[in-house]
Amino acid sequence: MISVAIDGPSGAGKSTIARAVAGSLHYLYIDTGALYRSVGLFALRKGAEPTDREAVAKLLPEVSLSLKHVDGVQRVFLNGEDVSEAIRTPEVSKAASGVSAHPEVRALLLETQRSLARENNVLMDGRDIGTVVLPNATVKIFLTASAEKRAERRFKEYQQKGIPTTFETVLQDVEKRDYADSHREIAPLKQAEDAVLLDTSDMTLEESEQAVRQIILDAQHGQKE
Ligand code: DC
Repeated sequence: MISVAIDGPSGAGKSTIARAVAGSLHYLYIDTGALYRSVGLFALRKGAEPTDREAVAKLLPEVSLSLKHVDGVQRVFLNGEDVSEAIRTPEVSKAASGVSAHPEVRALLLETQRSLARENNVLMDGRDIGTVVLPNATVKIFLTASAEKRAERRFKEYQQKGIPTTFETVLQDVEKRDYADSHREIAPLKQAEDAVLLDTSDMTLEESEQAVRQIILDAQHGQKE
């Protein structure tokens, strides 16, 4: 099985790029952030503070998550309910970052992610795929861009969806989330030693996709030789 790990901070374009590249290479695209977001959504619905480890850990036995792929598009189900859209709000982004710091949450999601990679050729995006989830991935890419560029992209996305916010708020959220994601004790966001670094600040989406595709093809080529 071939596995491609794409890690990096939020808003670097990981999911858009990963989805497109996975589609063209016929790999299963796995957006692991959706799993953390679903746990965050569940905590919010239950009135638990996402950063409260004990409160969140207590809820986990009630959480059942599954991913289904329909025409190459991933849908995520929380206790049988399709929450693919409900998890894309700023509140859930924050809650996901909160719950993702708890070891109990990471342990629960680790096996879900690994079993998908055992059964399929996958292109998985997240924060710790190359470092923790799939340390033996065939190819590892660390995708990043400046905080301003990432905030700009996310702000546009919210505007298109009619979610009211300001650029300043989005930038602050991006910076706060970067800090929290890279400073947590367990599985922090960091580049794996053997990952290829790709900075997309000055690249269009098409250029980024092409660069990612090329890194993957080069790695596969290198393996055969
Ligand atoms: O990629 P995203 O924005 O959907 O991720 C939401 C949150 O989940 C993010 O703040 C960090 C966390 N996350 C993680 O800790 N590990 C992953 N593999 C994916 C996401």
